[in-house]
Amino acid sequence: MDCIRGKHIVLGITGGIAAYKTATLVRLLVKAGAEVQVIMTPNAKEFITPVTLSTLSGKPVISEFFTANTGQWHSHVDLGLWADAFVVAPATASTLAKMANGVADNMLVTSYLSTRATVFAAPAMDFDMMQHPSTLRNIEQLKSYGVNIIEPAEGELASHLVGKGRMEEPEKIFDTLCDFFSRSQTMKGKTMLITAGPTREKIDPVRYISNYSTGKMGIAIAEEAAKRGAEVTLVLGPVDRRPSHAGITIIDVESANEMLAACESIFDHADIAVMCAAVADYSVANREDRKIKREKSAIPNLELVKNPDIAATLGRAKQPNQILVGFALETDNEASNAADKMERKNLDMIVMNSLRDKGAGFGTDTNKITIFTKEGDAIRYPLKSKNEVAADILDAISNIKHE
Ligand code: CTP
Repeated sequence: MDCIRGKHIVLGITGGIAAYKTATLVRLLVKAGAEVQVIMTPNAKEFITPVTLSTLSGKPVISEFFTANTGQWHSHVDLGLWADAFVVAPATASTLAKMANGVADNMLVTSYLSTRATVFAAPAMDFDMMQHPSTLRNIEQLKSYGVNIIEPAEGELASHLVGKGRMEEPEKIFDTLCDFFSRSQTMKGKTMLITAGPTREKIDPVRYISNYSTGKMGIAIAEEAAKRGAEVTLVLGPVDRRPSHAGITIIDVESANEMLAACESIFDHADIAVMCAAVADYSVANREDRKIKREKSAIPNLELVKNPDIAATLGRAKQPNQILVGFALETDNEASNAADKMERKNLDMIVMNSLRDKGAGFGTDTNKITIFTKEGDAIRYPLKSKNEVAADILDAISNIKHE
């Protein structure tokens, strides 16, 4: 399997019964040409011996910060930097909690905190532990840091309870890694501009007009594109979250005019531009430099002016080798509105989501999209997580043929 050949993989093993399955995982990875460095937590050794794993990986297993008899120091920083992928399998409730909260009390979590590699965690625990609100919260927290959770399977657990909590099979974990490495090169050399979040249009120094956009979808696209090797610039309106991928350049903007200026300054060099921002349609022409006082002033009449259409402006400047993708959030006449926008803004593709669909729209972690292409295709997708939707959108962009 060439997807994994030559890759450096840190495999962190924690103290759960599923640890015995990691022998198979190491074997699969090594056979496929990867270099595997195993880190074990002290409890993991109760479930599988370091000798088995060092024999299979061909490298001494690391567990402590120092080798007791020689005093040799193991650098968690070097290990973290060496890794192309950092895999924690099985990931117990305790290790997930430590990772989510930065508790660096062993070699594994310390290395995790130091790594810049993409991280995967394959939870394994008893059914009730898996459903506990604290575990679910920690998993959500880790996802927000960009950790890829390899969801546990359903089945009989070590406790003989049946339910979700079984570590995914080594073959599946291997496939996930293979998939990741195959995809990681697909956008290499591409320069990408993405807009995300809302814009804010000032009324006075303390008030503004805006909308409910949280930037989740655009940030997910930026992260997925960066994972695939693209050089990403994210022009981001005012939102609480930031992308976790270190390679993304962020330009923070507030108003539509600032967003337009940022986009125009970089569009020339972009191979692909994805307009995911919910740009406010109007700004306030008679905005006040001082706070409008409630008691002293008459009820203000806001004079609104149309904001520039950023997508349409880029559409007019677009060169034949550039791809421009837009979004359409609709409440009715979805297909015809989206097609109309694609035409009007000179887009190559438009991603439509409808506020009529449950789980689609502002602030949710999921989305349900239909992609319309210039060729007249309409590809409908089921409800998925925004990360999965981001992957679908990038797959569709990769399929766009230039004129
Ligand atoms: N867009 C933009 N600049 C604007 C308005 C929209 O770049 N001033 C982009 C959005 O980022 C999105 C696409 O255009 O990619 C469609 O946005 P949407 O708000 O759905 O469309 P509008 O053109 O505002 O049309 P309407 O409000 O009539 O639905």
